[in-house]
Amino acid sequence: MKISKFLLIIFFVSVTNSINTFADEEKMKKGLEIFNETAACAACHVLKAAGSEGNIGPNLDTVSMTIESVIDMVTNGLGVMPAFGEDEILTKEEIEIVSYYVVNSAGK
Ligand code: HEC
Repeated sequence: MKISKFLLIIFFVSVTNSINTFADEEKMKKGLEIFNETAACAACHVLKAAGSEGNIGPNLDTVSMTIESVIDMVTNGLGVMPAFGEDEILTKEEIEIVSYYVVNSAGK
């Protein structure tokens, strides 16, 4: 009885983990698409993982950032950097996804 309960827990933990991995992969795929196409971040930024070589903004492989700082920058913009949130170019969800993508692919 005890052993079967234990196996049941292992089963649920592994199912939950594979669902999370799937969600992460989907987010990275969608994030790349937003970076290169929907928002064209690639036009202004270097990000090796995305194959982009824009040099109007800073090289995203070498700046230090957090998901929060990228979300803030993409939402509100700064100088030449467009305010994708304020101008409703991207939805809140798209901003979160592209920020997740940038932070997790920078320097790779
Ligand atoms: C029109 C060109 C342009 C586009 C398009 C653009 N950026 Fe930028 N970005 C800039 C410039 C210029 C800066 C520097 C702003 C400053 O410091 O004055 C910047 C700054 C940043 C920073 C802060 C870097 C640091 O120094 O900490 C991040 C992160 C960033 N951009 C991400 C993005 C993402 C993600 C996208 C797409 C959603 C994007 N940018 C689209 C031009 C652009």
